[in-house]
Amino acid sequence: MTAVCEYRAGLEGIPVTQSSISFVDGHRGILEYRGIPIDKLAESSTFLEVAYLLIWGELPNKDELEAFEHEVNHHRRLKYRIRDMMKCFPESGHPMDALQASAAALGLFYSRRALADPAYIRAAVVRLLAKIPTMVAAFQLIRKGNDPVQPRDDLGYSANFLYMLSEKEPDPLSAMIFDVCLILHAEHTINASTFSAMVTASTLTDPYAVVASAVGTLAGPLHGGANEEVIDMLEEIGSVENVEAWLDARLASKGKIMGFGHRVYKVKDPRATTLQSLAERLFEKYGEDEYYEIAVALEKAVEERLGHKGIYPNVDFYSGLVYRKLGIPTDLFTPVFAISRTAGWLAHWKEQLAENRIFRPTQIYTGTHEVDYVPIHGR
Ligand code: ACO
Repeated sequence: MTAVCEYRAGLEGIPVTQSSISFVDGHRGILEYRGIPIDKLAESSTFLEVAYLLIWGELPNKDELEAFEHEVNHHRRLKYRIRDMMKCFPESGHPMDALQASAAALGLFYSRRALADPAYIRAAVVRLLAKIPTMVAAFQLIRKGNDPVQPRDDLGYSANFLYMLSEKEPDPLSAMIFDVCLILHAEHTINASTFSAMVTASTLTDPYAVVASAVGTLAGPLHGGANEEVIDMLEEIGSVENVEAWLDARLASKGKIMGFGHRVYKVKDPRATTLQSLAERLFEKYGEDEYYEIAVALEKAVEERLGHKGIYPNVDFYSGLVYRKLGIPTDLFTPVFAISRTAGWLAHWKEQLAENRIFRPTQIYTGTHEVDYVPIHGR
């Protein structure tokens, strides 16, 4: 087959689907889920309500939301064999690898695949939204040598996750702020992990394989892994006084500033703005993070030097500071992102199934032809 359009590295600007799930205007700094601006949802919704909106296309009414919350609450536990499997993982392994393996393992335990049955779709959605946070928290406790804590049915989605992680019930402000973080990360059009989920979904495999492949894609430092590197970078800078010199050296060596720049946004990411104000609310209550002043000084310095190229903070720049204040270890930042983005991946899975065609792009061959075969002793 011949190529029908020019080759673009990274498929930049090439539509790979038609979707009604989310919308981004990178020049005006707008993000909408099903047409609703992200700041409205962050202000008034809960994560599970937003997950329902993304996956089923409309905000649930009170009864629908209560039924959905009830189902998710009652599917949070992991089968003991999954917990036992996780106990065999090396404690030095990255939690994203543990999550990818555990999400894929769900397919072994729930092997029925009935992609045309709405009840099956709902059960898979509920199970994945319910169990991914339990897996993240379980691996955290297991690697510290403890037994995982069972979920508590009386706690909401976010409060329960923070409880399973720290074995302490969080205060309402922390639970609310974490819930907003989940809303902000839940969906973002066709990024690398979502595309990976869609390609996997298009083969009509099971939803656990779809989410596992997306988790593996999210793990890379150019995607979800950037928020971990932001904290390492702020630590390396060390002080407000060192910001300018550090930035000059970084730019001179053509290094990237983690947490800045975005393929789509050419202004400050609206999620970064909300996350910054959430960080400030947490700092008011619990004291400022040692890296916050460095972050603000770095944002200003990067804007002066790279603003003309459209390089501004992305979602990862302030999320790490919020997570640190909530007591979440740095290497769980990306798994937390995965908890949230599972909603978006599942929305795209469902949309892909509704009008599926297996992905099969083409290539532009740049190799040689009719090359002589040289036997091994002659090479
Ligand atoms: N620091 C310094 N310069 C940058 C940065 C950055 N963070 N981002 C882009 N630039 C510069 C590039 O060097 C390039 O300059 P040039 O035109 O002079 O060569 C120009 O801006 C365009 O950059 P590209 O890398 O081509 O932009 P692209 O759209 O491909 O990359 C990306 C987007 C991968 C996010 C990039 O900005 C980056 O690597 N950022 C740091 C990692 C990061 O924060 N990732 C999280 C993204 S959000 C998310 O996935 C949830």
